[in-house]
Amino acid sequence: MAYVEVDCPASVKKQLAKVFEESLRTTVPDEPDVVPSIDPCAANKAGVKFADYQCNNAMGLFAKMKGKQTGFKGPQAVGQAIRNNLPQSEMIESCSVAGPGFVNIVLSKKWIAQRLERLLIDGIDKWAPQLGVKTVLVDFSSPNIAKEMHVGHLRSTIIGDTLARMFEFSRVETLIRRNHLGDWGTQFGMLIAHLFDTYPNPEDFTEAAIGDLQAFYKASKVRFDNDPEFKLRAQQSVVQLQSGEEKYHNAWQQICDISKAEFEKVYQRLGVLLEARGESYYNDLIPPTLERLDKLGLIEEDDGARVIFVEGANIPIIAVKRDGGFNYSSTDLAALWYRLNVENVEWNIYVTDVGQWQHFDMVFKAFRRAGWLPNDENEFPKCTHVGFGLVLGEDGKRFRTRSSETVRLVELLDEAKRRCKASLLERDAVKDWSEEEIEKTAEAVGYGAVKYADLRINRLTNYTFSFDQMLNDKGNTAVYLQYAHARICSIMRKSGKDIEEIKKNGNIVLDHEDERALGLHLIQFPEVFEESLTNLLPNVLCEYLYNLTEIFTKKFYTNCQVVGSPEETSRLLLCEATVTVMRQCFHLLGIEPVYRL
Ligand code: ARG
Repeated sequence: MAYVEVDCPASVKKQLAKVFEESLRTTVPDEPDVVPSIDPCAANKAGVKFADYQCNNAMGLFAKMKGKQTGFKGPQAVGQAIRNNLPQSEMIESCSVAGPGFVNIVLSKKWIAQRLERLLIDGIDKWAPQLGVKTVLVDFSSPNIAKEMHVGHLRSTIIGDTLARMFEFSRVETLIRRNHLGDWGTQFGMLIAHLFDTYPNPEDFTEAAIGDLQAFYKASKVRFDNDPEFKLRAQQSVVQLQSGEEKYHNAWQQICDISKAEFEKVYQRLGVLLEARGESYYNDLIPPTLERLDKLGLIEEDDGARVIFVEGANIPIIAVKRDGGFNYSSTDLAALWYRLNVENVEWNIYVTDVGQWQHFDMVFKAFRRAGWLPNDENEFPKCTHVGFGLVLGEDGKRFRTRSSETVRLVELLDEAKRRCKASLLERDAVKDWSEEEIEKTAEAVGYGAVKYADLRINRLTNYTFSFDQMLNDKGNTAVYLQYAHARICSIMRKSGKDIEEIKKNGNIVLDHEDERALGLHLIQFPEVFEESLTNLLPNVLCEYLYNLTEIFTKKFYTNCQVVGSPEETSRLLLCEATVTVMRQCFHLLGIEPVYRL
């Protein structure tokens, strides 16, 4: 068991770190543990950057070496020495020392150009980092059967899918996209009892007959709350179901199938793949898991319930309820045991609202107490709860539709598409488009907008759902990004050149400062991606993509003529590199790019 290293050879930051590592070994041979600290330079208030990267080791080193006879007069001198001891590197154009020893690094534009040429030849997969874990499981979406799939589940679906796509790009050997469906629990008692009353003949019970399962759920709940006789039958039905009575089991299965078909419509629209394994799967695993925990002395009696106390929480995990039944926590204990021991998962990721943080924290702590997870949270195998904030309506309250019902997700996605289609049809440009192209484009832009609006903000914060905002073609929205992408495609089409041909012998030259700025941003994709992945923060990738689009549109494209200019070949290659990186970002965010708009 160890920490996991991310191997990211394409990261500029890591390559620079290697060069500076050599210098540090010569500069301070008595400090062998010092790790190069390299960061991209931030722009000052006026938006000016003095260099591309900087090495920040001098100050810390000088402080550390105080009192030793090193001969350095101050941090500036340490910085100067780091600079002077740098080995020859084709990456670096020039270095200078500023302030208290910062070494400012200007990259060679020739080297940047070469990196881009390689990207075009080798493909972007070569830029993927390699994560040193074999098996990752992302537990996401996970709605509850028959109850509504609400906007919280939509967030989980969108964020979880992007994380899964990020792991996939990082060549994780086994990636499990797990739908931990809420398909078990006492609610099935009332659903089944209501079902038998409504459809005495089981053949009549079909998706078409039942229509809306949520309404069905509500109706049964009303009876359960108001009719004691029904309530009793519902409770008996739970017992029948749990003892495996066929008629009850079949009814349960039917309800699950209808519900899953409804969820599938959402997944299909979003292009999300999931492997369903619901709570019911772990039913038989609960008793042995609890027995193991009991043997280790973790289970205690508390007011008739069987509980596990963990450090730092004032309430225990309820492993067995007072009535002897199991609950959400019992299932998660068994499921985690299964994931660690049968599926051999090294990194277990749970994507739910932040409200469930404590639940997961307690489960992980119980596993640490049992010695089933390493004490150091950063060591593998590890578990991470990826939390997210609430979805708010434009009124700042929990997102609801006007009738104050929770929003139906299929309708929400249809609405995004409908609005996109309407604004497409207003444009002259679509006059010659086929119906199919209009549909496809409206879907790509509409669903993409819903996803991007969610992903671009830090997931821990609440987010306001607004069609007007997310479908605005000017702000930081997927619509804006799609327009930019389509525009680049159109520039390239207009040139009439075959980009595959140009790729073979063409060179990229970055003489104009805006060409260079674009090139530099492009080659920073690997390190930004790595940051986004290791912190499980898709918004980092979104910000990168937005900035890329801004640099292309507001700098490069505004100041550097492409078609018909003497630099046409090089600039077309830069366009191609830009769309290559953009499309990879789109892919990771689950957005389908459009090629004309
Ligand atoms: N069904 C739960 C809910 O709707 C989410 C399940 C998350 N995954 C888990 N292993 N508990 O809130």
